[in-house]
Amino acid sequence: MPEPPVYTGYVFPGRENLHHDIYPTISAAQTPSLKQSGKVILITGAGRGIGRATALQYAHADVASIILCARTASQLDGVKSEIEKVKGSIRVHRFSLDVTDNIAVAHCAQEVHKTEGRLDVLVNNAGNGAPWVPISEGDPERYWNSITVNIKGPYLFLHAFLPLLQATAQDYNTTTTVINMTSIGAHTIYPGLSDYCMSKVALNTLTQFVDAEYTDKGVQAFALHPGGIDTEMARSDETFVKGLDGLLIDTVELPGGFCVWLSAAERKWLSGRYLAAPWDVEKLEQMRMEIVDGDKLKARIVL
Ligand SMILES: NC(=O)c1ccc[n+]([C@@H]2O[C@H](COP(=O)([O-])OP(=O)(O)OC[C@H]3O[C@@H](n4cnc5c(N)ncnc54)[C@H](OP(=O)(O)O)[C@@H]3O)[C@@H](O)[C@H]2O)c1
Repeated sequence: MPEPPVYTGYVFPGRENLHHDIYPTISAAQTPSLKQSGKVILITGAGRGIGRATALQYAHADVASIILCARTASQLDGVKSEIEKVKGSIRVHRFSLDVTDNIAVAHCAQEVHKTEGRLDVLVNNAGNGAPWVPISEGDPERYWNSITVNIKGPYLFLHAFLPLLQATAQDYNTTTTVINMTSIGAHTIYPGLSDYCMSKVALNTLTQFVDAEYTDKGVQAFALHPGGIDTEMARSDETFVKGLDGLLIDTVELPGGFCVWLSAAERKWLSGRYLAAPWDVEKLEQMRMEIVDGDKLKARIVL
């Protein structure tokens, strides 16, 4: 598949400023200023792929506690063991739940409130895609389930955890962080992928609403495209695999490092915006005036 078009932002900071693997500026194992001791992190879809790798990057950041959510309990157990190998003192909580289950998510929030009493980072990463077929050829239930996981899931976690994120920001005089795992697919019309692309457009817009409603209350929010990564989801459909041929070239550690960098400091000038993990973060900082003055990386019509 050819490189995605310019309007997708694939090469926004310039081709020479793209990374395909984690690098020192975003690696907590190599950069002490990225350490985030005392923080409590919650990651959905944390049993494998990008969510698992993100949990491990936060373990390198010496956080106090990591909360892992996904349906497959055995995978969460495996990630817990891996975190403990990185740093045994990190508290790890596992919630085997479906992100679309309102009651389970509300229960998770009550437990986190009770056991940790704070939340510094919410990574809404769990995601799903229906088979890659034209609209009339797919199964309506699978189609709608994909949209539900990708939108209702993040919404339920925001609904349940924004009060705690806000309270943590106020009580600890800090900035807390929401990262919604979106996709470059939000800016592309891949025939056959309408459920997925549409849901990621909506997730970007939801991120803009979190920014509009909560940044002045101490919560910054980002929509992050993780890169093209060879995970179970990316390999789940033959047409998908063919369609993404040549684009799954990023490591699973890259978005994890990008998340750690995002939450390591207040970055409200980027809040509400779409970002991509391959973008070099130092170059992004150099582009700050261009991004802020042009109000770039947000979805709206250009007139
Ligand atoms: N890989 C890429 O190239 C790529 C590119 C752009 C965006 N993304 C986004 O990155 C995110 C992570 O994807 P991935 O590639 O790491 O996929 P993955 O390896 O298949 O992991 C998906 C994770 O989400 C969990 N999950 C799925 N449905 C769930 C549900 N209903 N309730 C709770 N957990 C659920 C899965 O666990 P259970 O099945 O055990 O629940 C798993 O832990 C997704 O939002 C995806 O859209 C990925």
